[in-house]
Amino acid sequence: MTLKDLVIKNRSFRAYDESFKFTEDDMREFVELCRYCATSGNQQALKFYIAWERDEVDAIAKCTHWGKDRPYPGINPSGFIVILQDNDIDKRAWAWWRDAGIAAQTILLRAAERGLGGLMIGSFDKKPLRDVTKLADNLKILLVVAIGKPTEGSVLEDMGEDGSTLPYRDENGVTHVRKRLLDDLIVKRG
Ligand SMILES: Cc1cc2nc3c(=O)[nH]c(=O)nc-3n(C[C@H](O)[C@H](O)[C@H](O)COP(=O)(O)O)c2cc1C
Repeated sequence: MTLKDLVIKNRSFRAYDESFKFTEDDMREFVELCRYCATSGNQQALKFYIAWERDEVDAIAKCTHWGKDRPYPGINPSGFIVILQDNDIDKRAWAWWRDAGIAAQTILLRAAERGLGGLMIGSFDKKPLRDVTKLADNLKILLVVAIGKPTEGSVLEDMGEDGSTLPYRDENGVTHVRKRLLDDLIVKRG
């Protein structure tokens, strides 16, 4: 599979087969890839909280907000990786959000490579999520990444003439994600 194939396969999924299980080693392997990623100033100020046991995964899912009415029990992912900023290493907020994005995309590309899928979640309830994960005070939550075996498909299509980028679901439960055209992304030379 080419990198382009993986990037296209790597959609945001919001329904999963809960019978699929991760082990702790599976979760550690995702984080290991983040170890090799670029970080601002090579500070490596990110830390990762991994969850793969059903009760904890369900508890974390309840603290997150997904498109529309998701998630709900029965279609939760099989694991979560909560990406954290370690303030004891560096407190500069501007850098670590970028690092978190790089790490999250790396995790999701590995999931796609394994025939799995996931979702980046920037919308979460901080206090309940801290309570579930019992994080130390120096760890700030930046981003949550869900991973699992998706049960719903998602396809890309070019942005239509109405100019809307809003994803929509068809009658078969397939989500259509509209992307701007390449020529609309590249700024015209002056
Ligand atoms: C940094 C970031 C945070 C996101 N947070 C959420 C979120 O909180 N809830 C959610 O349902 N989707 C979230 N998404 C997923 C986007 O909604 C999704 O990327 C968009 O709908 C396009 O779909 P695609 O990823 O399949 O291209 C997030 C995406 C990114 C990159």
